[in-house]
Amino acid sequence: MKIRDQHYRTIWREQQTVCIIDQTLLPFAFQVVRIETYVEMCHAIRTMQVRGAPLIGAAAAYGLVLGIQAVADDDVLHAVADALIATRPTAVNLRWAIQRMLAQLLVVPQAQRAILAWEVAQSIADEDVTQNHAIGQYGKALIAHAVTVNPAQVVNILTHCNAGWLATVDGGTALAPVYAAFDAGLHIHVWVDETRPRNQGASLTAWELAQHGVPHTVIADNAGGYLMQNGQVDMVIVGADRVTRQGDVCNKIGTYLKALAAADNQIPFYAAVPTPTIDWQMVRGADIEIEMRDADEVAYMQGQGIDGRLQRVRVIPKESQALNPAFDVTPAKWVTGIITELGIFSPADLLTLEAKS
Ligand code: MRU
Repeated sequence: MKIRDQHYRTIWREQQTVCIIDQTLLPFAFQVVRIETYVEMCHAIRTMQVRGAPLIGAAAAYGLVLGIQAVADDDVLHAVADALIATRPTAVNLRWAIQRMLAQLLVVPQAQRAILAWEVAQSIADEDVTQNHAIGQYGKALIAHAVTVNPAQVVNILTHCNAGWLATVDGGTALAPVYAAFDAGLHIHVWVDETRPRNQGASLTAWELAQHGVPHTVIADNAGGYLMQNGQVDMVIVGADRVTRQGDVCNKIGTYLKALAAADNQIPFYAAVPTPTIDWQMVRGADIEIEMRDADEVAYMQGQGIDGRLQRVRVIPKESQALNPAFDVTPAKWVTGIITELGIFSPADLLTLEAKS
């Protein structure tokens, strides 16, 4: 992604450290943070300085690298891996990336592990970029198909949360088709759900679409159903934190309601996911652990004051409690298709992918 004429990934190696973009400050400040230890990486994942399923997978991989530079025996490897896996429970990419690192590191002598770890983490990051590019091409075809009758028609795509460049190493998942279609000259417009309580849509999706020049409109989370009823949404594309064997899609809280509204209005609902987001060990979405985050994320909102400073303001009474489940599960029956780097699959056909991924 280009920011002020410079190409950035969301995470990259710099000598013996790892750099990230602090997503808690966007869209108000673009700040690169240098991570030097696995403890700092755990903190960055937990506090959502980095977030989004593919990105926290890559971040965990780099975190493991940092954690084994001094001592890389089996005990240290497992302890660092466990600490990273414990940071966030829902996105399967985190566990997937750590398991891949362990599988490649545990079988080589300790003296080789520190260097090999950098290489494996780098491949995980590079593969994410390649996969997202392919997702973009498959998704672009879907968007192009929507305008076969009238090429001048604007295709209205609704998305929830941020499954763009910022949620991945580069390219995005749900937004990859959007960028590919826009770059190909198709007329598109994106409805951006604000995505309370962390506002990933309003703060992150809107920001990155604006950087790329893609026409978009931020809407309150509850506006999508109304727009669908009024013929203003042609398709919904979201990302996912975990897709199960039977095609249940776990994504940011509120996704399920969008899928229900889409089904009620005969609007196609797609999840765009790289294959590391598919959990082949899990059948039912109901078995996915849903992260419960701090209630203060609901009680307070963050924004920029008129003095330009970031401020937190309380939006509920002091006496009230708040509950903050971070994800929900959309049952496969409401999912039109799953856009992967290997093609587009209906939930019923998803299993044909298992051998290839
Ligand atoms: O809590 P977050 O911001 O990490 O949640 C992110 C999402 O729910 C994304 O939609 C999902 O990870 C897909 S990212 C390509």
